Amino acid sequence: MSQNTFPNLSPRDRSWNLAMAARPGTLDQVIPRSHIEGTIPSLLHGSRMLSNGPGWTQIGDSIAHPFDGHGYLRSFEFLPDGSMRLRADFIQTLVYQNEAKAGRLLHRGFATNIPGGFWKNLGFGSVPRNVANTTITRWGDKLLAGWEGGAPYALDAESLETKGEEWFGGAIEGQATLAHFKHDTVNQRLILCSHKAGRETRFTFRELDSNEAVVSQREVHIPGMLFTHDFAMTPTQYVLGGNPLRIKPLELTKMALGMSTLLRSVETDMRKPGCLHLVPRHSGEPVRTVTLPDRAFVVHFGNAFENDGTVVVDACVFTSFEFGEEFGYAGPKAPFDPGLPDARGPQQLVRITVPPGATEARWETLAPHGIDFPRFHPKHEGLDTPLLLGATRKDTRFSDPFDSIIAIDLKDQERPHQLWTTPENVFVGEPLLAPDPERENEGYVLAILSDGLKQQSTLVILEANQLEKGPVASIPMPLLPVAFHGEWDAASAT
Ligand SMILES: [Fe+2]
Repeated sequence: MSQNTFPNLSPRDRSWNLAMAARPGTLDQVIPRSHIEGTIPSLLHGSRMLSNGPGWTQIGDSIAHPFDGHGYLRSFEFLPDGSMRLRADFIQTLVYQNEAKAGRLLHRGFATNIPGGFWKNLGFGSVPRNVANTTITRWGDKLLAGWEGGAPYALDAESLETKGEEWFGGAIEGQATLAHFKHDTVNQRLILCSHKAGRETRFTFRELDSNEAVVSQREVHIPGMLFTHDFAMTPTQYVLGGNPLRIKPLELTKMALGMSTLLRSVETDMRKPGCLHLVPRHSGEPVRTVTLPDRAFVVHFGNAFENDGTVVVDACVFTSFEFGEEFGYAGPKAPFDPGLPDARGPQQLVRITVPPGATEARWETLAPHGIDFPRFHPKHEGLDTPLLLGATRKDTRFSDPFDSIIAIDLKDQERPHQLWTTPENVFVGEPLLAPDPERENEGYVLAILSDGLKQQSTLVILEANQLEKGPVASIPMPLLPVAFHGEWDAASAT
């Protein structure tokens, strides 16, 4: 797709649309050292960055909401000779295979209807639109591609071949399981959260050992219909955002008639201050609901940890949120509008402190910027960690689409945050930390830049403590579609 595809758009809007619409298909190529600006640090050799996100949103003559785009796995492997191998391909989900064969939308999604109106969109059909497009995490010899409304898809960690839906021996069969997983690296556990919405929301947390056996399970029921995309954990607690939802009756009726979507049929209920729910991990003790100082809608959590019984939670907090326009989605026939997210206030990264036994929390804002995709040391989940990374916007009035990476020193809050901003009309995705195993406070930041106008993506590598120096390595590659979440995989793939 050339940049003339959207001739009436501003350069920024055109760049965003081209990046959202990129569909390079199956890739397997080595980017030689001679094409790389700078040098890939030797610390990274033998490791890889993994990334997942929608790789096909222009389906037939209709634009799917990115939440409904087909999962496209990207693997960036840092080879011992200083080059990089890029592999990318669609996850072979059932709905991908069906729609690739047909060349058009066949399965209704959260936020996308099938062209053809009423009759095509009655109910959701017999096949959920599990596009496995949201997260990617390694567990043993598998990669798990998470999706919000069903089970993750498993892929072979080396060949990247799709194995199929992963039910962990039937434990999560038929359940909506959050795309975000947590790793308790102290106890070598993978933590999953399944949920079912209704007048109350049922959450089931399961902890799996390295043999994929369920070694712990906790089910709780929380009053009201809650929105949950992510959760946090500490050594003794699971942490959920209390994000109340309301049904929009008219939209729900329209949704049932195929004239609206599930995503547009709900709205946030922000009339009250926000809250967190603390769920004890290791006992049947009741859920503790903790009131926050102001309205709060949490999509992504940073880390959480405990300090002498005090629970500390980092979270990206919106004070208002409208469903349906994520990533600038403007409907099935319109270009993406990256100005749409500007209409709502940017999410703020706050540190929430909950004293022992308390039902009210205090919080402090960690940076003036709107921040999302908070990431930190991959082995510090649930533990006090020194550095938090996020995607942000240089202009503090706005957040996504992001043009900057921010790094915040969580141990020394007097230290100014670090910020690195992309060139004009270039966007950046979630930054990942590849920590130095010898020095806890040091390591590298990995992120993908999207330059639609140049038809190029670039993997940039920056020193975590010297972001403002700019990349130590920039690895150019074909334009890849904008991704959601990824993971740094210290184990070699080749
Ligand atoms: Fe997410």
